[in-house]
Formats: sequence, C-alpha cells, structure tokens
Amino acid sequence: MKYTVLMVLVTVAVSAQTRALHIPYPRETPMVDLMEATSIGAAPVNVTLYYEVLCGGCHDFITTTLVTAVKALGDDGSIMNFHFIPYGNSLETWNRTTSQWDFSCQHGPEECVGNTVDACVIHYKPKFKDHYRFIVCFEKNVDYKSQAWKEALEKCGKRYDMPVEEIASCVTTKLGNTLEHEMALRTGPHQWVPWLILNGVHTPQAGDNLLRAVCKAYKGPKPKGCP
Ligand SMILES: *[C@@H]1O[C@H](CO)[C@@H](O)[C@H](O)[C@H]1NC(C)=O
Ligand SMILES: *[C@@H]1O[C@H](CO)[C@@H](O)[C@H](O)[C@H]1NC(C)=O
Repeated sequence: MKYTVLMVLVTVAVSAQTRALHIPYPRETPMVDLMEATSIGAAPVNVTLYYEVLCGGCHDFITTTLVTAVKALGDDGSIMNFHFIPYGNSLETWNRTTSQWDFSCQHGPEECVGNTVDACVIHYKPKFKDHYRFIVCFEKNVDYKSQAWKEALEKCGKRYDMPVEEIASCVTTKLGNTLEHEMALRTGPHQWVPWLILNGVHTPQAGDNLLRAVCKAYKGPKPKGCP
C-alpha cells in the first residue's frame, strides 16, 4: 500500500517536471521523424530548367510535373534547389542602334516578353519559394494574344504578392533586357525544351517524373514525400 502511494507521488513529480521543462516534442515522436527533420549533411539536389513560356511541353512540365514534386518535397530548397532559366530556344543579337539585345523567340515576340516577365520576377524575388507560385500561375494564364502578358502579370502578381508595377516597368526597359540576356548566358547547350539538368547532368527522365528523379539523386534519408 505504502509502495503504491510512493509510486503515485513519483509519477506526479515527474510529470510536473516534464511540464515545467517545456520539452519541445511529444515523448512518443518516433526516432525516424527526428532523423528526417535533421538529415544533416545531405546537399539538396540542384535542378536547372531551360524553358520558354509558350512551349507546350514547358507549360505541362511547370504546371503539373513540377507542382507534383514541390507538393511532395516542399519549396524551402532543403531537398531540391530549383532554378528556372526562361530563355529556351530563343536567339539574341546585339543592336548597336538601341544598345540593347534583340531577342527572337520560337513562338513569336510575345514569348520573348513572357520570358522577360519571369526573368524580372526572379530578379525581384530570387528565392524559389517566393517566385515559384507566380511562375506556375503565369504559365497557366499567359497565351499568344498580344498584351496577354499584362493581364497574366496583373492577376498572378496580385495573387502572389509581387511588385507588379516594378515588374511591368522592368519588362519594357533596359533592366529586363539585361536580365533576359543573363538568362541567355545561363542557357547551355540543349536539344529541346523543357531541358532538365540535375546536379550538372542532363536528366531527361526528370522531365516526365521530377519527383522520382530528385528522390533518386538525393543522398540523404528519403523524405516522406518520396514514392
Ligand atoms: C535595332 O533596333 C531598331 C529599333 O527597334 C530596329 O528598327 C532595327 O532594325 C534594329 N537593328 C537591327 C540591326 O536589327
Ligand atoms: C549545387 O549548387 C551549388 C551552388 O548553387 C553548388 O555549390 C553545389 O556544389 C551544387 N551541388 C551539386 C551536387 O552539384
């Protein structure tokens, strides 16, 4: 009897102490979750996408394949470090009269403007998690109609907290021209778009299933979202 009372007292004392210490996770948190939360030492997989805003395959990749991967892996860059390079199969020539680059795009001049919108957005919001949702939305809303980029910029820009006025001005001035030229410089040899590069290596399978390709390339413990 005395022994039982003592046990009760000890239990009460221990639980009071536990509460006082504010232990950060519930006791029953499985060890595997703690490991996933830290996964020390594993570098994120670098993914680079060469694309142009009006190509059908690029549209499909960005609005479905990429979205699926981000939903599973998160947008914080801890597993996947994703870089949009909006230039694709465009060509550029230096215009000595205007002292700017003249771009020629596969799907017409509107595509050059659309690519420059994305380049400007990436300039103002360089972190993937801050520009990714806009780029997906823009891809869904932009089309071949002249000036449609303005409506898409307005709609997606407002929805995702972009400096719409600055971006509109960037697109039509020297800044946007320079930023789009930088995208040209960052575009390496490629045979088609969308062109996917994982940790420096062209990986065509990533175009069909980015999630699987990134999970395969990731050296740390497989994150929960991996198939
Ligand atoms: C340079 O730009 C001007 C103005 O857009 C254009 O009229 C001209 O044709 C361009 N020059 C070349 C060599 O393309
Ligand atoms: C990923 O890119 C960063 C720079 O952005 C670089 O330091 C790192 O070495 C790259 N990792 C791999 C595995 O290529």
